[in-house]
Amino acid sequence: MSIDSFIRKNRFFLAPIAGFTDSPFRRIARKHGAGPVISELISSEAVIRRKEKTLKMIRFHEEERPIGIQLFGRSPQVMGEAAAIVSEYSPDFIDINLGCPSRKVSKGGMGAGGALLLDPERVFRIVESVVKNTERPVSAKIRRGWDNSKKIYPQVIRALHQGGISFITVHGRTVAQKYSGFADWSIIKEIKELAEVPVIGNGDIISYNDAVKKLKESGCDAVMIGRAALGNPWIFAGYKPTVQEIIEQIKEHLEMMIDFYGEKGIVLMRKHLVKYIHGIKNASKVRQKLVVSDSKEDIFGILNMMLK
Ligand SMILES: Cc1cc2nc3c(=O)[nH]c(=O)nc-3n(C[C@H](O)[C@H](O)[C@H](O)COP(=O)(O)O)c2cc1C
Repeated sequence: MSIDSFIRKNRFFLAPIAGFTDSPFRRIARKHGAGPVISELISSEAVIRRKEKTLKMIRFHEEERPIGIQLFGRSPQVMGEAAAIVSEYSPDFIDINLGCPSRKVSKGGMGAGGALLLDPERVFRIVESVVKNTERPVSAKIRRGWDNSKKIYPQVIRALHQGGISFITVHGRTVAQKYSGFADWSIIKEIKELAEVPVIGNGDIISYNDAVKKLKESGCDAVMIGRAALGNPWIFAGYKPTVQEIIEQIKEHLEMMIDFYGEKGIVLMRKHLVKYIHGIKNASKVRQKLVVSDSKEDIFGILNMMLK
């Protein structure tokens, strides 16, 4: 499928959220109507060392397509080698992380992720190297800038074009903002007007109607939804689930987690559980019990009680 056709087919992407948007959650999002999905960020250094845990993060099911695998790293050569390895898994595209604000990744401006926005020449070399090493389309996920002191996106967009990027996702915050304040959709619109490739807008979408509105107002080719989809994959269809439907979805999700991770999946499910029950009346009473339960039977038992 070409980039244009998969973007045109469904304009609501699921955002990558480390620790959440693994294969089970991506499948659930797709079931409820999400368009393209992207893996959590994956270290290019760990990929080229073929670390077992990292290679497991690249796994996906056919029903997740179209799927992008997201890589981060500072070295153009390592990013290229990692892209070649990731391509063996045949994702629909490879995404380059140019937005992560965490100290571990961006190293206060000296590392990868969002820090690379300060070095457009390196952005160009990374994109060029990834493009050379894969037959797959290559995209990048950027933030609108490093901080408010300087408008740097025109140089970054130029570097992405020169490197051969196929599409660009823009999170409308600066790296310095981390997750505070708001995403600036007027700058996302400016970037859309400047870019010669499709642009996906991202940041603070809270509902289906909000997604439709932001898609229209920004002129973007698609929008991407992250945090608001956690515990609420129905956002992609604009559907409000009943309590029974939420409980059924939690049960299915838990089964998928155990299937994917083994018994460890029960503990990994806890953060999703908290999100799912957030919107259920009186759920705070069972919350504590749910997040300390370590057997599927106990969790199912508590969930069944919630229906009474
Ligand atoms: C806990 C957390 C983890 C994230 N992990 C990633 C990631 O691995 N890669 C990435 O490009 N963005 C990551 N993001 C950023 C989201 O993809 C998205 O750009 C951001 O949350 C804004 O969109 P939203 O308001 O719809 O959540 C993460 C965000 C959060 C809150």
